[in-house]
Amino acid sequence: MDFAAALKRHVARVEQGLDRYLPAATARPARLHESMRYSLLGGGKRLRPVLTLAAAELLGVTDDSALPAACAIECIHTYSLIHDDLPCMDNDDLRRGRPTAHRQFDEATALLAGDALLTEAFFILREPSAAQPSPAQSLVRKRAPAAGSRRLIGGQMEDLLAEKKNNATAAELEFIHLNKTAAMIEVSLVFGGLCARTTTSNIESLRVVGRHLGFAFQIIDDILDVTADTATLGKTAGKDAQADKTTFVKLHGLEASRRIAQEHSEAACEALHNVAGDKTFLHALIEAMAVRPQ
Ligand code: IPE
Ligand code: IPE
Ligand code: MG
Ligand code: MG
Ligand code: MG
Repeated sequence: MDFAAALKRHVARVEQGLDRYLPAATARPARLHESMRYSLLGGGKRLRPVLTLAAAELLGVTDDSALPAACAIECIHTYSLIHDDLPCMDNDDLRRGRPTAHRQFDEATALLAGDALLTEAFFILREPSAAQPSPAQSLVRKRAPAAGSRRLIGGQMEDLLAEKKNNATAAELEFIHLNKTAAMIEVSLVFGGLCARTTTSNIESLRVVGRHLGFAFQIIDDILDVTADTATLGKTAGKDAQADKTTFVKLHGLEASRRIAQEHSEAACEALHNVAGDKTFLHALIEAMAVRPQ
């Protein structure tokens, strides 16, 4: 298997889908739609939607029926990044190698563009697909909690509450990472399984893969904030220390963080064994995420 070519193919499908599902930049009010498109179509690894497409393909989906679910996930992820970057949150100027939404437009537009992308995600899910209608009800049932106050938003809340805290525990940090990041990565894989109408056991294995991959992913994000440069990351390096965030590096140090991330990447690969089908691409993707940026 040519991993780079397969990844490129999935990313291209996602980007075409996003362009197709989103309102045109000229739709009224144009400033809002331009801003949504600016953030959504301006790069990014597309990890989450690629996970959805790859999981669906692994389980026998050969058409575009998982594409709406994949694109909906990327809309939610992008909304979370726009809001994460706002001055009242992490106050970042750079995202995906370009000025953040509130820098390029203004704070109010960025706030509304984030709100609109979250709302649009639910609308995209109703998109009928060629062969089968997407199992919209189960998708919404899984997705709403992952993006809600107990997981993604709850994790973001505790991330902010843990700033400048000197007695944060490993358990608190685990809550933050499992929720602000792993929840959406879990659901990306689960969506692929739901689109393929696979067994409960495969869905559960995909969820475990996502939990470990998501946990490793955020630990590595914490490490890269310290070790990589702004140009490589496409976002400002060193921001976590500046804001005195509770991160893996702050709590456990670089070496232990690397080891723990590696353990979780391995656990993700291990859990993938339990899913049916040819897992070559997903294995390679998990490994590529463990050694990013590359
Ligand atoms: C950034 O996610 C936010 C985290 C959960 C660490 P990504 O690193 O996937 O960002 P993009 O989508 O590639 O820009
Ligand atoms: C953000 O974590 C996770 C989200 C839900 C957006 P970070 O604050 O570490 O993400 P970056 O480093 O700004 O991408
Ligand atoms: Mg943050
Ligand atoms: Mg941030
Ligand atoms: Mg970060």
